[in-house]
Amino acid sequence: MALLLAERDRIAAAARRVMVRCDELARVTSAQGSIERVYLSPEHARVNRLAAEWMREIGMTTRQDAAGNQLGRAGDAASPALMLGSHLDTVPDAGRFDGIVGVLMALEVVRLLRDARLPFALEVVAFSDEEGTRFGKALLGSSAVAGTWEPQWWTLTDADGTSLREAFLEFGLDPGRIAEAARRPDELVGYLEAHIEQGPELDERGEALAVVSSIASARRFQLVVEGEARHAGGTPYDRRHDALLGASEAALAVERICRAEHHVIGTVGQLEAYPGAVNVVPGEAHLSLDLRGEFDETRDGVWRSIEREIDAIMGRRGLRWTAREVHSAPAVFCAPLLQDALREGIRSTVDTAEDPAVIFSRAGHDAMAIGAVTGVGMLFLRNPDGISHHPDEAVSEQDVARGIRSLAETVLQLAADR
Ligand code: GLV
Ligand code: MN
Ligand code: MN
Repeated sequence: MALLLAERDRIAAAARRVMVRCDELARVTSAQGSIERVYLSPEHARVNRLAAEWMREIGMTTRQDAAGNQLGRAGDAASPALMLGSHLDTVPDAGRFDGIVGVLMALEVVRLLRDARLPFALEVVAFSDEEGTRFGKALLGSSAVAGTWEPQWWTLTDADGTSLREAFLEFGLDPGRIAEAARRPDELVGYLEAHIEQGPELDERGEALAVVSSIASARRFQLVVEGEARHAGGTPYDRRHDALLGASEAALAVERICRAEHHVIGTVGQLEAYPGAVNVVPGEAHLSLDLRGEFDETRDGVWRSIEREIDAIMGRRGLRWTAREVHSAPAVFCAPLLQDALREGIRSTVDTAEDPAVIFSRAGHDAMAIGAVTGVGMLFLRNPDGISHHPDEAVSEQDVARGIRSLAETVLQLAADR
């Protein structure tokens, strides 16, 4: 292996290009002074056009699929493809690397391997909706590719009340053709995704790259707490049914319960009080819950404990509550063959004989959805301080270079294995 040892200069140039393009994509935003790019928005269309240009520049044929994912393909049209990629959508006030760096690194791997004779085609995919920022349901783009799109998603609405179906039509996509985005297992060799870690483990270990062993299972809920709005001055405490205080206690209960459970983590990221006036006791509160675990069973057990605890809180406070599940994804285990190839790929970038780090991903990734149709493998890049979903999100150019080299070596390893 180590066929790419001689390519040091090309790999350095590739990493530079990835960093410059991350900056370029960061300028495609709907928010003044920060990065936000959501599914089926004008910004989504713009980054797809840019990605398609970059795909064509390295000789790939391109298409946007029926779910708005941007694809490029290199190699024989009849061969199954090894898919490489990640997503281009973002959370609000995002960093510039989550997802994006994986798409751009994939393009550089294709560029580096342009003259290699591979026994499979290479595809690069820029998924259109991983974060779920607009419709609350994550992994829409990759679910369409995996063929696991669910008809009830069409009525999901965004903050302005636009349904997913309407947004498709506005973007120029035909909801009736969504099934055309789905890929068959026999068309694919596997899926490889490079991604920043979004946590501090690699930074703390002083290592640049890791093989991902599995991706956390996740469930997301929208909770509504109902009490009674009343005068803030005139209503004594024992006559209040304050929905915001009930919701706040629920959020604290989520933290307490999850802290007690190994490898389950819960977050209340949204909390709104209604009617939202300084002089009115909140009569209604809406909160989100994001719950993740290494295993589905422990995650579900924690959710049952949270439900029991919230029942007790609301009972004490004379409040009613409901929970609507808006996202559910089982834990996904990375394919052993792809993990082995990634391990070899990483080894080619380090001088030590030690095994590279193996990490369980607490963050969700498109690979979770794609796992339903083909084997998946993930390469993590060190994320200084572990900060992500934040403008300070970072990755070093040197680690990107190591990542590109590892990923290219991984592809060569898989080619040799076939
Ligand atoms: C995506 O980044 C997620 O894990 O929520
Ligand atoms: Mn993210
Ligand atoms: Mn991501």
